[in-house]
Amino acid sequence: MTLKAAVVGFGGLGRTHAQTLSKLDGVELVALCDKHAERIKSGDLAINIDTGAKTLDASKCRAYTDMKEMLRREKLDIVALAVPTDLHAPLAIAAMKAGCHVFCEKPMALSTRQCDSMLAASRAAGRQLMIGQCLRFWWEYDALLKMIRSGTHGKLISLSLERLGNYPDWTADNWMLDSKRSGGAILDLHLHDVDWALYALGKPTRLFSSARIGRTGGYDEVAAVWEYDGGPMVAIRGSWLHTSFLMTFRAIFENAVVEYGFPPDPALRVIRRSGQTEKMTSPGGSAYFDEMKYFVECVAGARENSVCPPESTRESVNLVMLEIKSASKGRPLTPA
Ligand SMILES: NC(=O)c1ccc[n+]([C@@H]2O[C@H](COP(=O)([O-])OP(=O)(O)OC[C@H]3O[C@@H](n4cnc5c(N)ncnc54)[C@H](O)[C@@H]3O)[C@@H](O)[C@H]2O)c1
Repeated sequence: MTLKAAVVGFGGLGRTHAQTLSKLDGVELVALCDKHAERIKSGDLAINIDTGAKTLDASKCRAYTDMKEMLRREKLDIVALAVPTDLHAPLAIAAMKAGCHVFCEKPMALSTRQCDSMLAASRAAGRQLMIGQCLRFWWEYDALLKMIRSGTHGKLISLSLERLGNYPDWTADNWMLDSKRSGGAILDLHLHDVDWALYALGKPTRLFSSARIGRTGGYDEVAAVWEYDGGPMVAIRGSWLHTSFLMTFRAIFENAVVEYGFPPDPALRVIRRSGQTEKMTSPGGSAYFDEMKYFVECVAGARENSVCPPESTRESVNLVMLEIKSASKGRPLTPA
């Protein structure tokens, strides 16, 4: 059976997801929706669309400016949402109520209450919901996860995760620069590492964070420390006050240091205490492609969603909310 899919929000991530859905076996991309009609550049979509990096074959797609109208007219199995974060919950809930399985970009929503409404809608409609926490599908992070789980280099002593960028002034209507719509850097950017630390190590025993309000009106600069009783210490830094994009990690194991993303050589490196260094190179591919392929396989019934279940991505939003509380109260907190 071919799954009919649509993408809502044809900006940076929407174009990426449309590319993937147009290439996956067993999927037919039939509709694109963006409230700014001009963002879907071709009138009747009978020709290819230039998405910037690549050309998308949208010859079978119809274009819409309103998701509800699209849901009324199309018979869809899958809706991929890549809209501003304040719209994740209302649009995901509407799409699931209309009978669609929903892939929704991260962060899941602006609050845990909204996340809970999305989870309830998924259960009530019997439709799958997956949030695009792409680091869970990122080769280098996955390689680190395997080292942590296997104990190849001994016990993990400490882990630092860093994600720095400049202010994102390229989004539609500049929605990302408004913390009421994006949650600021702490929810939009730093959440990536929060989610991965949760995925890899579980909930911390306690956390403390220090943060600064920035141009978005929310926390755009954050340093968090997570502690695990009997386990590693984790330091997570996020910022939109940097001058360029950088994502790095450094893991200190008993017998080796593993690092990724550092200029001028961003490759994953294992530096053994003996002094021997091993460089590991990704086989290629893209986490954005792999996460969508995984979701489609879950919808098709080929696998259970054990990598990125929505309950766990709800927990990463909860941990960011705890960090916000910790920063504003100036004290450590214990996750429930
Ligand atoms: N996984 C990642 O690495 C990553 C990276 C960047 C952004 N994101 C997430 O992806 C989502 C989209 O971000 P983006 O960078 O693509 O933003 P963007 O501004 O480039 O694209 C958003 C699109 O949604 C459209 N839109 C707004 N309201 C709409 C509505 N009611 N109906 C239909 N379309 C509507 C806009 O016109 C725009 O084209 C956000 O949740 C963001 O946090 C994820």
